[in-house]
Amino acid sequence: EDDILGKLPLRNKKVLITAGPTYEAIDPVRFIGNHSSGKMGFEIAKAAANNGAEVILITGPTHQTASHSLIKIVPVTSAQEMYSETHNYFKDVDVAILSAAVADFKPKQVASQKIKKKDSTLTLELEKTKDILASLGANKKHQYLVGFALETNNEIENAKGKLKRKNLNLIVLNSLNDKGAGFKGDTNKVTFIDDKENITEFQLKSKTEVATDLLNKIIKEIDA
Ligand code: CTP
Ligand code: CA
Repeated sequence: EDDILGKLPLRNKKVLITAGPTYEAIDPVRFIGNHSSGKMGFEIAKAAANNGAEVILITGPTHQTASHSLIKIVPVTSAQEMYSETHNYFKDVDVAILSAAVADFKPKQVASQKIKKKDSTLTLELEKTKDILASLGANKKHQYLVGFALETNNEIENAKGKLKRKNLNLIVLNSLNDKGAGFKGDTNKVTFIDDKENITEFQLKSKTEVATDLLNKIIKEIDA
């Protein structure tokens, strides 16, 4: 942690990270959420801080903790809050890594009172949330922008499509087909695809090691 020799590669760099799920309110007591643990994003935050970066970690509801003097945690609940906070910080950062499992849809109307079970069926109308990553890509200047892609089929093609459509420098493909990969556990199996179409496939690893691989790739690419 100490940079006595002033040699940590990301000293003087700011890194924004999103992590965890978002919760989209249905009524005062209920929400639509997902099983993201937040673990991958918190490991990336720790790896960035261990390389000397000043980290802004914008996180949905999780049980993860990170006590490091270089990590500032910004807790949010909904996709809209995550969007606002991410845009608050984006212009000042050198790198942004969006690992959050943002809800794609939210209830169009949030009931102001608890919904009663009076009928035998209930229909909720959902509308799309804003795509945070795509909006950063559209506003990108000097920033190195990294997204994730969670795919179950046509993985490389779908991930490449997201890389281009969202104007990213790098995408981390997570395959849910691989046992031990994804959302909930302590391990992940990823493939990096960069904007020069370099494809690097990794073995199943701990999320801590995946975070190290990702920071090493970013350090190389930004020439830090
Ligand atoms: N993402 C985001 N804001 C959203 C949805 C997704 O910032 N409203 C980001 C995620 O954090 C991730 C990337 O976009 O870095 C890809 O998320 P993913 O769910 O794989 O793709 P989507 O673009 O949402 O498309 P789909 O779910 O239909 O595959
Ligand atoms: Ca999605």
